Amino acid sequence: MLSFHVITLFPELIGACCSVSIVSRGIKAGRISVKTYNPRDFCQNKYRKVDDTPYGGGAGMVLKPEPFFAAFESIERASLSPVVLMTPQGLPFKQDLAESLAQQKDITLICGHYEGFDERIRTLATHEVSIGDFVVTGGELPALTVIDAIARLVPGVIGKTISLARESFVDDVLEAPQYTKPPVFRGMEVPAVLLSGNHGQVERWRRQQSLRRTLERRPDLLEKAFLDDEDKKFISELSARKDLRSDA
Ligand SMILES: C[S@@+](CC[C@H](N)C(=O)[O-])C[C@H]1O[C@@H](n2cnc3c(N)ncnc32)[C@H](O)[C@@H]1O
Repeated sequence: MLSFHVITLFPELIGACCSVSIVSRGIKAGRISVKTYNPRDFCQNKYRKVDDTPYGGGAGMVLKPEPFFAAFESIERASLSPVVLMTPQGLPFKQDLAESLAQQKDITLICGHYEGFDERIRTLATHEVSIGDFVVTGGELPALTVIDAIARLVPGVIGKTISLARESFVDDVLEAPQYTKPPVFRGMEVPAVLLSGNHGQVERWRRQQSLRRTLERRPDLLEKAFLDDEDKKFISELSARKDLRSDA
């Protein structure tokens, strides 16, 4: 059982998204839990004020350290387990971090808002992560992205764990194209090999499509992917050809 502890000023956002789809299924199955902690509930001041003007001047409001520290200290195992601070200044969130966090029993996520947070709140974090090179209004949607990516790796959350094995970023390659019925739709045909029933050929085709797609769209991934001799030969033949998609 993996427990997510989310420090957020907008717990309703977290609650709404965790009540549907895979995360909700994981909660119902008792594999994960998601609890929220609102720094406003930990304010000592009369007006439950969680932010203030920045020292040195400037626009916007900055989240105060006291209510965030108090919320953090109310979580029993927070200081013994990973603490993920959501920030556009963090390292890009990647599948390998999701995989390692999925092994944990407790994870605390801290969501900022407004202009950002007092620098001292950073000292609580073991990881600072960004979901991309853009700025959203608050840390809740980034935290939900992180929760979803981790939750689906927890055994028993997704029915067939085999379906995770071929996904994009597992083994540092993108997933091969997928098809379902009908075999022909508006003139677009499912590749014949997928209808052949030949398991070996299907696997080989999938591997080659994965490599091709990764080479076209994310060649950077191939630098750390595990490639056997056959993979390397295929990639070098493909690279020598000129028919890779130019719009990829
Ligand atoms: C409006 S942003 C503040 C951005 C801050 N002024 C800066 O330039 O770094 C408010 C909060 O949203 C969250 N946030 C925004 N963009 C994010 C991203 N790309 N990844 C993770 N969290 C993000 C963070 O928690 C941040 O504190």
